[in-house]
Amino acid sequence: MSKRVRTAVFPAGGLGTRFLPATKVVPKEMLPLVDKPIIQYGVEEALASGIEHIIFITGRGKGAMEDHFDISYELDATLEKKGKKELLELSRKISSLARVSYVRQKEPLGLGHAVLCAKQLVGDEPFAVLLPDDVIDAPVPCIKQMIDVYEERGGSVLATMTIEGPAISAYGVLAGSQDAKNPRIYNCTGMVEKPKLEVAPSKQAIIGRYILTPRVFETLEKTTPGAGGEIQLTDGILALLEREKVFGFTFEGKRFDAGDKFGMLQATVEFALKRPEFGDKFRAYLKGLGL
Ligand code: G1P
Repeated sequence: MSKRVRTAVFPAGGLGTRFLPATKVVPKEMLPLVDKPIIQYGVEEALASGIEHIIFITGRGKGAMEDHFDISYELDATLEKKGKKELLELSRKISSLARVSYVRQKEPLGLGHAVLCAKQLVGDEPFAVLLPDDVIDAPVPCIKQMIDVYEERGGSVLATMTIEGPAISAYGVLAGSQDAKNPRIYNCTGMVEKPKLEVAPSKQAIIGRYILTPRVFETLEKTTPGAGGEIQLTDGILALLEREKVFGFTFEGKRFDAGDKFGMLQATVEFALKRPEFGDKFRAYLKGLGL
């Protein structure tokens, strides 16, 4: 019987250049989507999926993120003194969400290298990887859906979605075929990071959610720089495919690229419309714009 998925790794060392100037000082993971930093959406998804230990791979300038998941004595004391119970609850809840560890990725050598930095803390267990830029709104948390596939099939599982046209070149792309029993599952035979449209092996793009077996650390250790001169996670998983099964999984839900200005705008509108406190007011406001 394969081991349970208990740990989630969040690579959060990136510079966030797609979101300048907002990210000159503020870590991109701390940009708010409505009223919550985007990293918190991923953390809450992981916890709702049964994850017990969160590992952030950070870099220089990410202190705000560490503070966010820590106790804020001054804030809590002030809220308590002023009798602001609900806000105090909100602040305390964030710091008690999970067991959190931090690993510094000293040099930005790529996503594969970032994941490899978690090796000692993860140990010999399957684990989840969540890229905080990808915010997924789903009836069942995306990582939970993927843990279920892992528990049934026993190999690594990569979230995928269909991407049409040249936009495919921004993703890792799978080769393989749809599973006969479950049309949401894709049996991988290969994968390539950021291919040109002409050489993309399919329209199945990898989205930032993975369940990986610990063997990937062995293959990542041997992975040399690939696309963009970086050590790519896709290349490490491709090497894993020579030894183990790897599946693509078309999750149920909607993905937003919140690391991109337009994607963040889309997510903001859709998440705001769902908020019970002001969703109706916001809908009326949008209608009133007469677009
Ligand atoms: C990373 C991965 C890529 C994946 C993408 C999903 O790329 O390297 O395989 O398709 O995330 O968001 P990045 O967006 O960091 O360039």
